[in-house]
Amino acid sequence: MQNIQELKSFISQCSMNRRLEFDANDITGYIDAYLLKQEQESTKDQTYFNEENLVSSVLDLFIAGTETSSTTIRWGILLMMKYPEIQKRVQEEIKTHIKPGQLPTVEDRRKMPYTDAVIHEIQRFGNIVPLNLSHSTPSDVYLRGFLIPKGTEVIPFLTSVLYDKTQWKTPNDFNPNHFLDENGKFVRHDAFMPFSVGRRACAGEGLAKMELFLFFTGLLQAFTFYPPPGVSREDLSLKPAIGFTLELTKAETYFNEENLLSSVLDLFAGGTEGTSTTIRWGILLMMKYLEIQKKVQDEIKTYVKPGQLPRVEDRKKMPYTDAVIHEIQRFCNIVPLNVSHSTATDEYLRGYLIPKFSMTRPNGKHPMISIPITLDENGKFVKHNTFMPFSAGRRACAGESLAKLELFLFFTGLLQAFTFYPPPGVSREDLNLKPGVGFLLLPTPYMTCAKPNY
Ligand code: HEM
Repeated sequence: MQNIQELKSFISQCSMNRRLEFDANDITGYIDAYLLKQEQESTKDQTYFNEENLVSSVLDLFIAGTETSSTTIRWGILLMMKYPEIQKRVQEEIKTHIKPGQLPTVEDRRKMPYTDAVIHEIQRFGNIVPLNLSHSTPSDVYLRGFLIPKGTEVIPFLTSVLYDKTQWKTPNDFNPNHFLDENGKFVRHDAFMPFSVGRRACAGEGLAKMELFLFFTGLLQAFTFYPPPGVSREDLSLKPAIGFTLELTKAETYFNEENLLSSVLDLFAGGTEGTSTTIRWGILLMMKYLEIQKKVQDEIKTYVKPGQLPRVEDRKKMPYTDAVIHEIQRFCNIVPLNVSHSTATDEYLRGYLIPKFSMTRPNGKHPMISIPITLDENGKFVKHNTFMPFSAGRRACAGESLAKLELFLFFTGLLQAFTFYPPPGVSREDLNLKPGVGFLLLPTPYMTCAKPNY
């Protein structure tokens, strides 16, 4: 968060400097173009071209553009250490086409098909954005007889194309020949789509391709990369670290010091943000639905004596509160994409083959904007088979019962002590329930007025 703040201040400073030197007849970059648009739209009542969007869109470019290019280069260096014969061929091509002491230029790429093929193959093999960015259907869509309703979140799985057995000779191997014909000429491939496709494909594709060529060629012109002392080529693992899972290669026992630290860290990481985000959603929803907050507080008053804190055993006696907590979890859907899983064997699902080791993301439906309470007609709490904010199956959340216990104690304890209202000047209707999209769906950050109940 601190890094983001620093980046934002840096961008604000840059935009202020550009504003001072602004000349509509001399547009030198993105910020200038934005300022020009801002000037053109200055008479409109509403415009997207405000200061906040300037900072956010420049920040987007930094975020989208740095980690991706540097990760690709890291893959490139690893692959060159693993395949020195390929590294050598790239270096020979560099020596043939770039004079010693001169840096590579963008124009050199066309003359260097082997290097170009190697960079393309690094991107295909590295497959650094396997799940792409999520998209959403703007209307009902039919795909192979299946209806994908309007507003469905769709995750275009780039791995399925970059590793498609029907498209690549040796999809699981690093093989620059995928991009070379029998005469050593570079050939394009329709299934090469590390930047995605369509109207929302990577906005920086041209820039990224230029950067990758210049950085990769420049590095291999200046250096030859070897594994560090004590590590052989064979030792170098090409297995990517997937999401938040632990990389446990080569361990004789899993119970070493490193795994102890990592697994305790996992418990902290898995346990803190998830629970606190749910409580934040709970407070926001209680500010929005004061009548529900009141019913919870009435139940608390009935079953928890004043001055006593709620206990785990109270939950069974408090179906309404229990239902509200469940509904908060269903509604806020904080881990919409779950954690990635991988198929252990070939699986068939509704006639489709999901090959062994495919990465899958169990993805729930987006909740409706309403807060129905899961109680039967007698006011008893009812379980729901589709309530799975902790996922399902053998790899479901390891902390489910601890989290449920915490959520009950924290939520009930907070509502016992306080009543939550929107901050001054903000009405209930103003409170926006649209989540911010990240790995976790976060609620809009509002101030809250917490009025003590005693
Ligand atoms: C190796 C480098 C890169 C790779 C593999 C990559 C890949 C991607 C992918 C897969 C997407 C999602 C497209 C989709 O939603 O269908 C994306 C989006 C985007 N990328 Fe890149 N990217 C790279 C470098 C860059 C650079 C250098 C920039 C700009 C400085 C950039 C800016 C963006 C932006 C702004 C978007 C969002 C586009 C939109 O939503 O309309 N990327 N990128």
